[in-house]
Amino acid sequence: MGRPVWRDVLEWVQLGPEERAALGSSGGNPTRATLRLWGRIAAKEAVRRLWLEQGGAAVFPADFAIDTDAHGRPTLRSLLETERQDLPAISIAHTDGVAVAIASLDPSARVGIDVERLVERSAGFEANALLDSERTLLDALAPSQRAEWVARIWCAKEAVGKATAFGLLGGPLGIETVSLDAHTGILAMVLGAELSEACPALAQSRIEVYTARRSEYIWACTLGEGSAR
Ligand SMILES: CC(C)(COP(=O)(O)OP(=O)(O)OC[C@H]1O[C@@H](n2cnc3c(N)ncnc32)[C@H](O)[C@@H]1OP(=O)(O)O)[C@@H](O)C(=O)NCCC(=O)NCCS
Repeated sequence: MGRPVWRDVLEWVQLGPEERAALGSSGGNPTRATLRLWGRIAAKEAVRRLWLEQGGAAVFPADFAIDTDAHGRPTLRSLLETERQDLPAISIAHTDGVAVAIASLDPSARVGIDVERLVERSAGFEANALLDSERTLLDALAPSQRAEWVARIWCAKEAVGKATAFGLLGGPLGIETVSLDAHTGILAMVLGAELSEACPALAQSRIEVYTARRSEYIWACTLGEGSAR
């Protein structure tokens, strides 16, 4: 059987011609193509809702396109006002069965989002993905909370990596959690040397990241805001 008809319908309603072509060439993996489609729908919907809240005119999802830069960061482009530069900043994430997105009306906002399924991690995961200082933060939590907070920190690192536009450049130890609040789910993170050099705009910040759990999924997002280091 070919791909489901709903995929074709969604693609034609939600995407412009270039996006459809790009999605069609995303490696031939239909599950990945579906997640990428959902991510684009989520991002466009976030943008449309922000514009509507501001009293802007309704636009169709296919009236703007989502491009990706050389590092994979998604950016918005209007197909109606091709010269327009002041489009919202967006970020996208997907994992099996879920896609999420965040948008900011401020085009220069450093937005980042991630979503992961809460799974049992191997014994070596913490050692590879977390700094000693982060494991000390986790030691202060109840042991029953640890797996969830490991996942929150991991998601937060990916969200911050996306906010820099360079991902986990230098690996996951290149972003450090300097505080966590188990009641609000808010973390503060700082960039290591490699990412600081790549993204000077965030180099001097304690970047605020919001994390939450919904069912078996953990997500994290940031607008790149925070206090000075
Ligand atoms: C960017 C990165 C964090 C994405 O994480 P992931 O778990 O692979 O995928 P997610 O579902 O969370 O997110 C995928 C989305 O991230 C976005 N993305 C990819 N690269 C990005 C970047 N450099 N900046 C901002 N957003 C990016 C894209 O929108 C992508 O969705 P799309 O392909 O449908 O457009 C990760 O791939 C990364 O760090 N890559 C670069 C560095 C690297 O490869 N390091 C390896 C050592 S760990």
